[in-house]
Amino acid sequence: MVSNYCFKITNKQQRLGKDKTFFIRTYGCQANERDSEIIKAILLKIGFKEIKDFNKNVDLVILNTCAIRQNAENKVFGLLEQLKKKKETRKIKYFGICGCVAQQPQIIKRLKVKISNIDFFMGTNNIIDLPHILEMVMLKDKQVSRIDKMKSALVENWPNYRETRHKALVNIMYGCNHYCSYCIVPYVRGPIRSRTKENILDEVKCLIKNGCKEITLLGQNVNSYGIDLKQNYTFANLLEDVAKTKIPRIRYATSNPWNFTKEIIDVMAKYKNIMPYIHLPIQSGDETILKLMNRTMKVKDFIALIKYARKKIPCLTVSTDLIVGFPNETNKQFRKTLKLYKKIKFDNAYTFIYSARPNTPASKIIDKVALKTKQKRLTKLNKLVKKYSKWNNNKYITNVVQVLVDGQSKTNKNIFTGYSHNWKVVNFVGQAKIGDIVNVKITSSSLFSLNGEKISC
Ligand code: 5AD
Ligand code: SF4
Repeated sequence: MVSNYCFKITNKQQRLGKDKTFFIRTYGCQANERDSEIIKAILLKIGFKEIKDFNKNVDLVILNTCAIRQNAENKVFGLLEQLKKKKETRKIKYFGICGCVAQQPQIIKRLKVKISNIDFFMGTNNIIDLPHILEMVMLKDKQVSRIDKMKSALVENWPNYRETRHKALVNIMYGCNHYCSYCIVPYVRGPIRSRTKENILDEVKCLIKNGCKEITLLGQNVNSYGIDLKQNYTFANLLEDVAKTKIPRIRYATSNPWNFTKEIIDVMAKYKNIMPYIHLPIQSGDETILKLMNRTMKVKDFIALIKYARKKIPCLTVSTDLIVGFPNETNKQFRKTLKLYKKIKFDNAYTFIYSARPNTPASKIIDKVALKTKQKRLTKLNKLVKKYSKWNNNKYITNVVQVLVDGQSKTNKNIFTGYSHNWKVVNFVGQAKIGDIVNVKITSSSLFSLNGEKISC
């Protein structure tokens, strides 16, 4: 049973940030980006002012961390060493760490010894406790750890803050129950907790009123939306109801192939405001590896799914995630990933070398493959990624695409950038405002983007 917590601040907490500044750095995925927006909203509400320059003196620094791979964690540890010194020389007053790294008790234990002047650890389920944590740190001079493991909190009354007006991230669910054998997410983000459809739709309607043009529905695996609510209301149903709000653009992240249904594709085909873009991580083209990953998906079913989607949705962009060097992956198995890539001709892929994560089943396998071999495989795969990205992008030359404008080039005031309706980066010449949706005629393509000029109709 999901319990709803109510975000509250006391009168004392209300003044904690008066005349004080904060700096926050975010690592990792869009779930973390959205969490950072909420953290900022809380800090602004209790009087802090944000500064964006890490080299200035600042009262409070928060690192919102990612633990998905070891190299993501290493970046955090490097910065923590710097913060430790900055605190010793009084360039910062307080610093704390939150997000997925802070959710791991064994890491907190280590950090408390190594970086003894760290002020707080706040787990992924504890953002609601931030005012109380700061009260303890700032008024009572205590070191605080709040990492309630699976506090099934779904807070609905967060203070409001968005990095941009024209685009917004909307959480539809938290956590994951799938336990892919390599993945740390279920351990650090907890089990699935879906928001109710009413709360999600209210948030979307409020965003529309404030001029938002594009929303991303967020979840670790959005296809599992609602299974905990047991209301017979699926992600496809939610997507359709969100489309009916008439917000100009909707996309979602992330989906997994085993429960990506044809109904989702049918809803995408029916509504023009659902962006023709599917990010569908397959991870490997070899079924034995997929089984070992606990991702029991038949490659032929994946191919059939993409074929169906491409038939139903014109100009569909398809991207994926791939892991090379899963423990004991053979060359033959790796070649199956290459074969699948060539067969699907993905628009893009996020590719990673397998990284052992604490407590996951895969981390217990004795791996005989050398890192050098894995690196070579990654290079080979990335070559294909580039080849098919360019091949796909070339198809758009002379086409007119609609672009939601994100910003202006720093070096040339005549060049703007944004994303097409099917999630291609487009750089174009011509005048525009952030948040406009403009028509751009594509004149050339680069490896991972399209180039063009704005046209009037
Ligand atoms: N090692 C390498 N890549 C990983 N990913 C998740 N866990 C690991 C890991 N242990 C990748 C997967 C996932 C993406 C978000 O990160 O490809 O889809
Ligand atoms: Fe990790 Fe698998 Fe859950 Fe995705 S579906 S978050 S890869 S366990």
